[in-house]
Amino acid sequence: MPAPIPWYQTAVFYELYVRAFRDSNGDGHGDLRGVIERLDYLADLGVDCLWLLPTYPSPLVDDGYDVADYYGVHPDYGTLADFEALIEAAHARGLRVIADLIINHTSDQHPWFQASRRRQDPYTDYYVWSDTDQKYREARIIFLDTETSNWAWDEVRGQYYWHRFYRQQPDLNFDNPAVQEEMFKVVRFWMNRGLDGFRVDAVPYLFEREGTNCENLPETHAYLKRLRALMDAEYPHAILLCEANQWPEDVRAYFGGDPNDPTVPGDEFHMGFHFPVMPRLYMALRRGDRTPVVDILRRTPPIPSNCQWCTFLRNHDELTLEMVTEEERQWMWAEYAPDPRMRLNLGIRRRLAPLLDNDRRKIELLNSLLFTLPGSPILYYGDEIGMGDNIALPDRNGVRTPMQWDSSANAGFSTAARLYAPVIDDPIYGYRRVNVAAQMANPASLLQRMRRFIAAYKDLPALALGDLEFLDHPDRGLLGFRRRYRRQTVLCLHNLTARGIQVQTPDAYDVLANLDWPGGPLTLPPYGYRWLVVR
Ligand code: GLC
Repeated sequence: MPAPIPWYQTAVFYELYVRAFRDSNGDGHGDLRGVIERLDYLADLGVDCLWLLPTYPSPLVDDGYDVADYYGVHPDYGTLADFEALIEAAHARGLRVIADLIINHTSDQHPWFQASRRRQDPYTDYYVWSDTDQKYREARIIFLDTETSNWAWDEVRGQYYWHRFYRQQPDLNFDNPAVQEEMFKVVRFWMNRGLDGFRVDAVPYLFEREGTNCENLPETHAYLKRLRALMDAEYPHAILLCEANQWPEDVRAYFGGDPNDPTVPGDEFHMGFHFPVMPRLYMALRRGDRTPVVDILRRTPPIPSNCQWCTFLRNHDELTLEMVTEEERQWMWAEYAPDPRMRLNLGIRRRLAPLLDNDRRKIELLNSLLFTLPGSPILYYGDEIGMGDNIALPDRNGVRTPMQWDSSANAGFSTAARLYAPVIDDPIYGYRRVNVAAQMANPASLLQRMRRFIAAYKDLPALALGDLEFLDHPDRGLLGFRRRYRRQTVLCLHNLTARGIQVQTPDAYDVLANLDWPGGPLTLPPYGYRWLVVR
């Protein structure tokens, strides 16, 4: 008997920003009870696992990624009881739930930091303090538009503290065993509320060492392996998903096991985001040339058989261009962010539909690649209906606007007079046109296409589990590949260009069109795609 397939290897994920989803109490902020009200929608869409963005108490300098209390829920979102109720209600519908775990840093409002800056034990060494701001100079700055140093001066303590993100997010000192234990406590607390795992935030930066760039250090991996051991021992059903915005060979290390032998099981993260493939999907589409995607996937090392990649088109952050060359970045900015307001740090703060000029063919094409290339797909809330963005809002808030449920006031999101952020209300992406209710009622809508993708994905284990073999078609505008698992072979064809491309195909079943395909020459229309199950 072959070993059972772990659930996360075949799951479809949905990234959900609680503040934006549904306001159940009319205060203008989405909340946990609101998510419960919309679980039937998510179950009907067909996703398997929700990833909740941070819901901890926080001053919200970084929208909750600045945690002020690891054991609570932000009052805007509800209570701990609501959190537990959401997990229970999700489970009752067969949905799993993972949450953000932010271990690298806290808010500067966290009591640990407040005590540390006053040198109050046991918190004196909970953060990374220094008399000089000249240490670890090889570490890059991540929030480039805001910060000029990874050190900030603290008046109270009379020392500098280390921070990889906003200055209001001091990094915890993982060299302190007490900090390491604190995080294990936090993990147990939330796992005992019923979670199915964590998306672990900003993992490459836990430790600092002079003479390095302070990313991906052996000490960081050693700690993460201890975290995994805890999970395996106490919560074997649950997963750890790694957020490491790094090159494939560096992310490979976060799966653990033996880097040279994928048959050795992973002992660090179950899953890891594949950051580098994401911008290359956009590059390939704009250039009408598959090369960037093929090259990065050929360069991606095999991962242990108990692990899985996570792939995505967009998320709650800017579309990051950290994993491309300087020349490619300039080109991506010129192509996809012509207005300087669309740029942020090393990325582009726009949503999927506006990035693709709201061209339905291109939106479907990239989603088709999301579902057919290796890795579990993650959908970002609102992209399933082609929501727009609001570049007038600061930071990444422009891609975090209220979910558009229907054409009633406030898009059916809330009954409040004032919302945490305005609903999108322009003639193209506005809620009167783009909303769930309208697309539910329309069999030809993007939402219905997304439901179809998800359903077909579940019927085709080769897409989740199969190996990958690229077609060597002479036209580089054709991105074609075979996914093969046991006796199933799926031929996936994508036309990245605005012209028709002819492909020779075998006798097959066309899954999405639901018809038999006799084989022979097939002309893919501009930006067309096919999923063919080979006979
Ligand atoms: C991750 C999050 C991002 C956050 C940062 C700092 O990159 O995705 O939203 O700002 O970590 O916690």
